[in-house]
Amino acid sequence: MKHYLLTGGTSGIGLAAVNLLYSKGNCASLVVRDTERAKTVFPKDKFPEIRFATADLSQSNNLESELSAAFAEEVFDGLVCCAGTFRLCSLRKCTQDLMQEIMAVNFFSPIQILRLFAAKKLQRRNPFKAVFISSDLSFREAPANSPYAASKAALEACLRSLQKDLNSLGMEALIIRPASVDTRMMDADRLARGADFDQWIKSRQPMGLIPPKEVASEIISFLEAPPGRHCIRVLDINAGAII
Ligand SMILES: NC(=O)c1ccc[n+]([C@@H]2O[C@H](COP(=O)([O-])OP(=O)(O)OC[C@H]3O[C@@H](n4cnc5c(N)ncnc54)[C@H](OP(=O)(O)O)[C@@H]3O)[C@@H](O)[C@H]2O)c1
Repeated sequence: MKHYLLTGGTSGIGLAAVNLLYSKGNCASLVVRDTERAKTVFPKDKFPEIRFATADLSQSNNLESELSAAFAEEVFDGLVCCAGTFRLCSLRKCTQDLMQEIMAVNFFSPIQILRLFAAKKLQRRNPFKAVFISSDLSFREAPANSPYAASKAALEACLRSLQKDLNSLGMEALIIRPASVDTRMMDADRLARGADFDQWIKSRQPMGLIPPKEVASEIISFLEAPPGRHCIRVLDINAGAII
């Protein structure tokens, strides 16, 4: 049985990943912002040994001390960073507070958690694998999503620049860049596009919305695979999107 630390496990891709990990006999500890709700999503009888640490990743000033205290006794085989936040906003509505919040969840928090493993404030086994969910918007035009796109591009650039460090620490990372996935995160676009939503999606990615389970199965395949020769690998799941 392997033990993974996940963010964003309460919904969408992260939830599908936790379900798949348990179906394969593994266990997970989750960073969640609402522990009571998480306990209803993951009842103890179906998810034995699941543990939660409460943290709002948009207020990540104390994240390092909170997580190292909450998980002091745990030893992890890997990290899966799925938490993410997204707002549709024009340049005019792109305030500093909004950008700060998006950067905190999507960029600062995964790197802070990675730092905890690098500094041995969280214990890890070797080999240690880490998965980060980026987005195709990190490199494609996204007029109403510029802070989100920037946060994902920052995450990727930061990880790429850390390749040597990760290698010397015995860590292997996978960055997954999905196009649009059928989760709660699409609700704002669904609302904004109304009846045109399906057509709009097909015009962007002809194979339609990606089921969250498909992203989760890529996460689990990477975690289960024997160590590879890649220090950082990038996986695009584009559903036919032409860039
Ligand atoms: N859906 C897409 O089209 C798409 C495409 C490309 C990449 N992605 C990326 O995929 C990842 C997973 O997203 P999803 O589609 O599965 O979306 P989702 O269903 O909205 O799930 C987002 C997860 O992040 C957590 N989260 C958000 N803000 C948080 C905060 N401040 N503190 C702690 N946790 C927070 C949520 O917790 P709560 O349950 O408490 O809200 C939830 O578990 C994200 O990084 C997203 O950027 C999504």
